[in-house]
Amino acid sequence: MVRPNLLRRLVCLVVVTLVVACQGPQPASLAPMAAERVVSRPPIRAAAGMVVSADMRASQVGRDVLRAGGNAIDAAIATGFALAVTHPGAGNIGGGGFMVVRLPDGRATAIDFREKAPLAANADMFLDENGTYSSTLHHNSHLAVGVPGTVAGFAKAHERYGKLPWARLVGPAVDLAAEGFVLTGNLARSLRGVVQRLSRYPATVDAFTRDGEEYLPGEVLRQPDLARTLERIMREGRKGFYRGETARLLAAEMRRGGGLITEEDLARYEAIERTPIRGTFRGYEIISMPPPSSGGPALVQMLNVLEGYDLRSMGHNSAAYIHHVTEAMRRAYRDRALLLADQDFVEVPVDRLTSKEYAAELRQSINPAMAGHSDPADVSVPHESDQTTHYSVVDADGMAVSVTYTLEQGYGSGIVVPGAGFLLNNEMGDFNPQRGLTTSGGLIGTEPNLARPEQRMLSSMTPTILARDGRLVAVIGSPGGRTIINTVLQVALNVMEFDMGIQEAVDARRLHHQWLPDNLRIEAGGVSAETVGQLRAMGHVVQVRGRQGSIHSIMIDPVTGDRLGAPDYRQSDAGAAGH
Ligand code: GLY
Repeated sequence: MVRPNLLRRLVCLVVVTLVVACQGPQPASLAPMAAERVVSRPPIRAAAGMVVSADMRASQVGRDVLRAGGNAIDAAIATGFALAVTHPGAGNIGGGGFMVVRLPDGRATAIDFREKAPLAANADMFLDENGTYSSTLHHNSHLAVGVPGTVAGFAKAHERYGKLPWARLVGPAVDLAAEGFVLTGNLARSLRGVVQRLSRYPATVDAFTRDGEEYLPGEVLRQPDLARTLERIMREGRKGFYRGETARLLAAEMRRGGGLITEEDLARYEAIERTPIRGTFRGYEIISMPPPSSGGPALVQMLNVLEGYDLRSMGHNSAAYIHHVTEAMRRAYRDRALLLADQDFVEVPVDRLTSKEYAAELRQSINPAMAGHSDPADVSVPHESDQTTHYSVVDADGMAVSVTYTLEQGYGSGIVVPGAGFLLNNEMGDFNPQRGLTTSGGLIGTEPNLARPEQRMLSSMTPTILARDGRLVAVIGSPGGRTIINTVLQVALNVMEFDMGIQEAVDARRLHHQWLPDNLRIEAGGVSAETVGQLRAMGHVVQVRGRQGSIHSIMIDPVTGDRLGAPDYRQSDAGAAGH
């Protein structure tokens, strides 16, 4: 068991106190409270550019790139690499994600850098030697690692739209890893947890302890192996990750631990530029991520359904509002489970799902006074974890970038590649576990999202941009597994239907329903006991729960054009940096 000594504890207590004092006041507590609308503090205002992420240092790296003349893509790449160092639970180079971009002239694009299954993958790969489905193989083993996409995604975004030299974007992350950075209390606590959980992986213990001793708040975390990997990426671009030394080290760890990824898998990985999903809501334009994200299609589907109701008259987070939003969620998540997967492998009826006609049909099935019924039949939904991260960037020209990327669970598979210093994802857990296996516990056996060689696993990540009358309105997105889509939906509704300012929209309490299990989950403090009673009387199974999501957002002030950065203070290290 690793234990810090008393002197280190005292020194670190003093250092962290000074660090906290220098950073200014901490965010307001999000403990349960009676008021529905809570503004923790005003948004951060800047005239030219803004970066908002889960970690203030990473936001500052992005802001400095904007100051140096980089555009929003450049800043997004630099922020993403920095988060791989300073926010190791979800920031990554060993995972994957999505980037949605709106150019200053209104055109939009999306970069898909979702992980994919290795060439040797198949639908039976999560069965043990007795042919029984194993959750450990599916989520906590070398087999759970998908071929990483992040470096290829950033390289593609840079090649297509970047402005500054690549080395300028990776350099700050190299420095942060090599020289280290001061640990906040939050990150030190998180690293302690991961080290205790993952003592079976020596390279992980090495990366996140100081010679086997747990780090304390205020100590400096240096990651020399990660710095060397980032340096290779800085010098050689995507080849620095997908070929040569890094690829060799990754493939060796796979062989050692019984994983499937080979150097060939790495060499073949390509990020894909895709056409974003587009929708409308009362004159607003919604730009979001297409499959393999389920987020964009489900978001547009739910907004189409809800456009047919006067939500504003119902009142924000009233029983009537929550009921109608819940019924839209129930239907969209049912379709998600049945139909959505990687569109390069499976035909996905995106046009129909996102059409106004289909939404009108769905509205016909909603009883305004009574909860619907989720029928499991023989399908259910797969496990997805809460641990992902989202960040938003807007530059001086109005280019907007919305990035959500992930290792799947917090710290992914927990496997640090020995000698390379980065964490591998466990994204294969987002594939369905076994063909035909469906249980009341939530396993799904439907075909579309089964593991196949080179298929991308279905995701809920929903990086999204809102516009109106040809002008950028807001950049939003969230972590939270299956709750992501509903978190993004509600922040979008708060802006578009309830005219909330961006920080108020982010802070407002959220709800979640995902078809199965048939539970309506509401963030603590979100509604009164009377509202809960009304919802129960309608037949909803209501659960009050902890925080949902973490939307690090930006809105454009419609009068001044200022960029308003709104970190989600549900995540304590979050920060907005503007200039
Ligand atoms: N692993 C979370 C997601 O992709 O939605």
